Amino acid sequence: MEQLTQLRLLGLFDARVPRYTSYPPATAFDQSTGAVFQADCLQSLDPATPVSVYIHIPFCERLCWFCACRTQGTTTLKPVAHYLTVLLQELNHLKATLPVGMQMGQMHWGGGTPTILPPDMIRTLAQAVKEVFAPADNFRFSVEIDPTLVDDAKIDALAEVGMTRASIGIQDFAKDVQEAIGRTQSFAATKSCLESLRRAGISSLNADLVYGLPFQTPAKLANTIAKVRQLDPDRIALFGYAHVPTFSKRQKLIPDAALPGEEDRYHLAQQAAQAFRGSGYQAIGIDHFAKPGDSLSIAAKSGHLRRNFQGYTDDSCPTLIGIGASSISQFAQGYVQNASATAAYIERIDAGGLSGHRGYAMTPEDRLRAAAINMLMCNFEIDIDALASHPNAASITTIHDAIVEDFAGMVTRNGSKITITPQGRPLTRIIAQRYDGFSDIAAQYSQAS
Ligand SMILES: C[S@@+](CC[C@H](N)C(=O)[O-])C[C@H]1O[C@@H](n2cnc3c(N)ncnc32)[C@H](O)[C@@H]1O
Ligand code: SF4
Repeated sequence: MEQLTQLRLLGLFDARVPRYTSYPPATAFDQSTGAVFQADCLQSLDPATPVSVYIHIPFCERLCWFCACRTQGTTTLKPVAHYLTVLLQELNHLKATLPVGMQMGQMHWGGGTPTILPPDMIRTLAQAVKEVFAPADNFRFSVEIDPTLVDDAKIDALAEVGMTRASIGIQDFAKDVQEAIGRTQSFAATKSCLESLRRAGISSLNADLVYGLPFQTPAKLANTIAKVRQLDPDRIALFGYAHVPTFSKRQKLIPDAALPGEEDRYHLAQQAAQAFRGSGYQAIGIDHFAKPGDSLSIAAKSGHLRRNFQGYTDDSCPTLIGIGASSISQFAQGYVQNASATAAYIERIDAGGLSGHRGYAMTPEDRLRAAAINMLMCNFEIDIDALASHPNAASITTIHDAIVEDFAGMVTRNGSKITITPQGRPLTRIIAQRYDGFSDIAAQYSQAS
């Protein structure tokens, strides 16, 4: 049977599945787990083990229609300056709760657009974080950058406070695609941004691309890929466009009719993946590419790749502390998310105390399922022996068996290992969903392809 027909029969174009940047997915969180749980988790941390820190900046000067990120538009710095004071308050609350001497191994600023912050605010925020979490040896710090909302002064300030990696939003360079997603961005401005970053000593650069955008065609995508090759990023994230207008209202400005059909979308993803592999990038997980010497490729090769809210990472810190509106913290005990709406987050912090609004306390069974899903999402493989250390690991034996039977030809079983074949990889999220104990709330997710 033709491969595409087989993938279709196995649900590739119909399934709505989480991206599994966490398990359970954030849709399973609820308000019975909040600030009290967060305080317990924070107090139980061991200062000898560095944590990761994520800071969310939910502001943009432009609001791109395709974007599903938690952000809001602003033409002035007034709300940004106020938000910064609230972040500083949240940091103070954390400091008062955490054990003394906490260190951070990694920090990520995401959004929205962190580069909306002018240099003085960049310095203030970085300094305040470092007062709560001292940078550990080999500290790494990445920032999401909109090339149209950054300049040399901001880049220099970020480099001065320790940025080691920049993630640059590109999406697509085709003019009509950019117009249809409400985001214009010239190749010249993007190139100049990368040059400034390299001049400032930022040697690790990631580029975000999206396939499945309105009016995207193989020829236009080939052109975008050629331009991205010229920019020579170390990593590429190639996201499938998640069209979820009921969740992200501005996507209603994108007419459904302009979106590539499901098979066209599949071919666009395959085309881009083939082009990047052909240019020497290693494929990482379901949607990333990295140069062979990049730490992400090294982590993938050695089995240390992990998935978190930012996508794939080589971050080995077991704890993630999320700061700012909508940020999610991950502890050994479970997850805690801050209020999603910026106003609700600010209100909560102003009222004093910790920011946790909703969350989820992990059970041993969740940990087993999370480990299986992480194996599939990172290595395309379930290692049944490696899961055996979990209590009651046998409880998911029927799932292993069903996968081998239901996805025959797309997965192979060899001893204790169940591996997704290269042809079956587009089904990875669908296969992972078999281990998801919350899959009945799947209707709200984006398509699997
Ligand atoms: C916070 S934004 C990037 C940083 C910066 N604000 C910019 O626009 O350049 C993070 C990335 O999420 C991806 N993204 C946003 N909305 C998406 C959607 N609906 N589907 C797929 N990817 C999306 C884009 O690739 C985007 O670059
Ligand atoms: S893509 Fe970036 S700039 Fe555009 S709305 Fe999303 S976060 Fe803001």
